Amino acid sequence: MALSLRRIIEGLLILCAIGAISACSNSDSCPLIPDSLCGESDADNLTLRAAGALSGMRMGATLEPSEIADESYTGTLIKEFSALTPENALKMYSIQNERGIWTFVGADAVMEFADANDLVVRGHTLVWSQDQFTPAWVKAISDPAELRQVTEEYIATVMGRYAGRIPRWDVVNEPLTTLGAQPSGSVWHDLLGPDWIADVFHLAHAADPDAELWINEYGTDWVPGKHQAFLALVAELVEEGVPLHGVGLQTHRISVAGPDRAVFEQQLRDFTNLGLEVAITELDVVTSPTDPTALTSQAEAFRRIVDACLAVAGCVEITTWGITDATSWLNSLGTFPTPTRPLLFDDDFVPKPAYFAMRAALAAGRPPFAN
Ligand code: XIL
Repeated sequence: MALSLRRIIEGLLILCAIGAISACSNSDSCPLIPDSLCGESDADNLTLRAAGALSGMRMGATLEPSEIADESYTGTLIKEFSALTPENALKMYSIQNERGIWTFVGADAVMEFADANDLVVRGHTLVWSQDQFTPAWVKAISDPAELRQVTEEYIATVMGRYAGRIPRWDVVNEPLTTLGAQPSGSVWHDLLGPDWIADVFHLAHAADPDAELWINEYGTDWVPGKHQAFLALVAELVEEGVPLHGVGLQTHRISVAGPDRAVFEQQLRDFTNLGLEVAITELDVVTSPTDPTALTSQAEAFRRIVDACLAVAGCVEITTWGITDATSWLNSLGTFPTPTRPLLFDDDFVPKPAYFAMRAALAAGRPPFAN
């Protein structure tokens, strides 16, 4: 892919911001950068995207097809982020909710938007291992051979359609129960047995051999025993030589308390120690509507999470599950008092304390001995 002019200027601005091009105040020895640009490049003016680039960190947010027409939403997405995860458009219930009826309108629109705006897409997700999110016709299958054939066709069709445009996929989402450490009850697990995960990764590798293949999980940062169970599962896949590139930790925080910075950092490192990359794939931090200091505490929580990721060299992406508090999925979940205000931008797209905490952490870069 050709390096866009935007990327080049962004890179130069970053070098200005960190002082690597000391000549920003001296146009004679900084011939590539107009003074007007250099003058605006102090750390306070960095976007999340530019601040993340200092550490090779992809900064992502979600997009729904219906949000493409919302200029406030897309304006913030394009300006502040370098990556995009379709919130629902690439899920099985969006693409083939009825057997044989393939619906790519939403996914194609999101992809066109991403390509036109220099945003790299995380493909989310091929197999979501939770029965409540599985199309009824798939759940109704009772013959293992049929389920395997349907899954193979689905993966080949979807990955094939976007090959070369979606460089990484959450191949399997939520292989463990939401609030526990057991394998999640799903038609795949029930019919194909515990090897179904490895099998699906091989199918994905065959469908697009160039794509990075990721496994993604909810709640490993706070559900008791879940990190150890997920780590054991991932270690087994690695041991078996399954084509697995990285581990996504959703990191939906249910309150502003925690996570403990050192514990969270170690959880990230447990996966990079297996030779994998790790990413924070669905970050949001629920606040309580009755807590007067919620936004400050929330900012501190975001800071701990970003600092932990920066300290782990193989932690390469932070994606927030939305942009504005106004449309977070958590407001309609029914689990938390609303408004949950879990994101970086308020209802009017004004950056919150959490935004500035995250940007400051990113602008400081990785610690010298990040590993
Ligand atoms: C959620 C979406 O945000 C909602 O709009 C949808 O109704 C349900 O799914 N873990 C995941 C995401 O992996 O795909 C989920 O997204 C949130 C939890």
